[in-house]
Amino acid sequence: MELQKNFDLKNLNSFNISVKTKYFYKFSSINELQNILEYNKTLKEKTIILGGGSNILFTKDFDGLIIKNEIKGITIKSESKKHVTIEVGAGENWHDFVKWSVTNNLSGIENLALIPGSVGATPIQNIGAYGMEVKNTITKVYYFDIVTQREKILANKKCNFKYRDSIFKNKFKNKFIITKVVFCLNKEHANNSNYGAINEELNKLKMEPSLKSIFQAVISIRNQKLPDPKKLGNSGSFFKNPIIKNQKFVILKKIHPNIVGYPMPSGDIKVAAGWLIEQAGWKGHTEGSAGVHKNQALVLVNYGEATGENILDLSIKIKNSIKEKFDIEITPEVNII
Ligand code: EPU
Repeated sequence: MELQKNFDLKNLNSFNISVKTKYFYKFSSINELQNILEYNKTLKEKTIILGGGSNILFTKDFDGLIIKNEIKGITIKSESKKHVTIEVGAGENWHDFVKWSVTNNLSGIENLALIPGSVGATPIQNIGAYGMEVKNTITKVYYFDIVTQREKILANKKCNFKYRDSIFKNKFKNKFIITKVVFCLNKEHANNSNYGAINEELNKLKMEPSLKSIFQAVISIRNQKLPDPKKLGNSGSFFKNPIIKNQKFVILKKIHPNIVGYPMPSGDIKVAAGWLIEQAGWKGHTEGSAGVHKNQALVLVNYGEATGENILDLSIKIKNSIKEKFDIEITPEVNII
């Protein structure tokens, strides 16, 4: 076991924030995980589990133990005429798995290309993009129960998946470590290209909708709109799109005829937070090294030297101004530590 002390997390969080953790440990098996948790019974440090580090904002040094999940492996478990069931280690890179699925001609996650982070993080906030959500392909989630110190399995229906939400963000918070995720992918291709800019992008690329072309179109759209965290620190959408009552949306629409909202199955409306933030004048705004991205107002960025606190301060100003201008509460999608 190699426990590192006073470890700099700059390369392990996509905001590229330089903060130190008192202890740092990587595990690539349940056994190693059990060992470190056992050892921590003497250390008694509070613990954070890090995956790809792409949905986290560190605002100060961490006085505890950060353990990084590096459980790997992509294994086909079973196959039928229409489906293939695949078990994936939580520490695999998400986009690498999406690439693997497209290379193997399997559909179901191609619209989720280029989302940064690890496979194990995807069920926690039920990642979604371009009309697809990961909950539609996950069949079960293996997790290590920190209380009982045993590996357990949760079937899809028990995960309480909702928009950017699951049981792992609520009832199970801080009590679990995802170890493996099982996906059921389709041999038949849905060619789900009706969402947003995908068809437009396919026309530009002069391509018919197919598994591979949709994958390429999503990559191309994301590259145009969203900054690459390797070049510019960010963690994708900083805020969730707020969900408001239809009644309130109708009133807002009278004042702001161009407001963007999508009806939810419940009848409520999911409002595009990017639109609200842009209308409030924040798009492209910078404060020192912290800023709001020039192409997508939902994304906060670190131009180099920003601290987590700088980003947090900016996010609070944005949140307050949206409350003031539209009477809408926006909440962070990113975990703030
Ligand atoms: N919009 C603006 N100004 C902006 C940004 C967006 O007016 O600066 C408007 C757009 O014109 C569009 C609407 O808002 O009409 C929606 O924008 P977009 O399609 O870019 O999607 P989003 O709602 O801003 C969500 C996800 C993204 C995902 C995209 C694509 C959330 C919080 N974010 O963003 O996910 O890639 O849809 O499906 O649901 C992420 O979670 O990190 C992420 C990038």
